[in-house]
Amino acid sequence: MKIELSDNKVFFENDGSKKEIHPFWLRERAIGENLVDEGSKQRLFDPTELNKDIEIRDLELSERFLKVSFTDGVKTKLPVQNIINEFSNINDVKIIKKIKWDSKLKNINKYEFEADIFDQKIMYEALINFYKYGFIIFKKVPTKNNFITNFANSIGSIRRTNFGEFFNVKSKPNPNDLAYTSLSLAPHTDNPYRNPVPCIQLLHCIENDVKGGFSTLVDGFTVSEKLKEDHPNYYKILTEIKVRYQFIDKDVVLEDWAEMIQLDENNNFKQVRFSPRLDFVPLMEKEKLDLYYSARNKISELYNSDEYKIEFRLMPGDLLMMDNYRLLHGRTSYDANQGNRFLQGCYIDYDSTEGKLKHLKRKFNF
Ligand SMILES: [Fe+2]
Repeated sequence: MKIELSDNKVFFENDGSKKEIHPFWLRERAIGENLVDEGSKQRLFDPTELNKDIEIRDLELSERFLKVSFTDGVKTKLPVQNIINEFSNINDVKIIKKIKWDSKLKNINKYEFEADIFDQKIMYEALINFYKYGFIIFKKVPTKNNFITNFANSIGSIRRTNFGEFFNVKSKPNPNDLAYTSLSLAPHTDNPYRNPVPCIQLLHCIENDVKGGFSTLVDGFTVSEKLKEDHPNYYKILTEIKVRYQFIDKDVVLEDWAEMIQLDENNNFKQVRFSPRLDFVPLMEKEKLDLYYSARNKISELYNSDEYKIEFRLMPGDLLMMDNYRLLHGRTSYDANQGNRFLQGCYIDYDSTEGKLKHLKRKFNF
């Protein structure tokens, strides 16, 4: 990738194709005194108030800088690397490649908590692994005074839901969700009925005196790719049919329609939703429903099979951070008479982790 000049025009060359960069694209990126605020990096001018036909008067290209004078009298010196970064999307977490995993996954990425961890290199490494594997665990996170809220707000901001700013997971009488019992929970994603679905779940173990109650995780990315390979017709229908997900309690009715396997604009994996106690497929012709039910059974069988599931015990102080768009989570049953099992959970959104990752990258010059 490189920048070239010809006839008072700027060209961007990539993979053998050479394209002109619009002069106004460069003009609205002009930096310098009276053009950009030093602290916020926000423009001090409104580009929509400028004449979009502004042209380039003079150009000078060195190894590191592109100097441009425009016909409206503005002169600027742009770092070449900044222009290249915008074309290559180099700062985007989407280029971190997901690593598929199943029950054979040996090394879970664990990080020991320290008070200043959020601004350390180790946090950068942790976040990269979060995007690669869809989950990480922090050890020895303080368990007093709902510390999970401090933890979440140190990465970004808590995403509040109808379960509150954070929620306490322990068995209780008259629960509004099966999570608040001692029953086993099959692998599921949280809140598929919300729009948007909370992106990342934090689950912090405060007490765990029971023998059972193991945490389980499944990689929805691995499973959906497997389904695509072995049963393309099942994969197709699950990526096409929008299902109604519903949550009802005495205070609220939440509903959203979405695919069980959602793809992005390039037909790549975006998100899985799975919660077969609260999904309602639309009324379609019998043959289509027949195929849908076979597909749902198959993906349920894969999600619940021992081939894809990992199982581990969360110890007091352990904080599991998992991608609710990619992973399914659950737990094995436990006997509440054996002692306490108490977890606290909350949600944060992707812009929190992405913003933190980019900040650490900038800070440490990675
Ligand atoms: Fe859950």
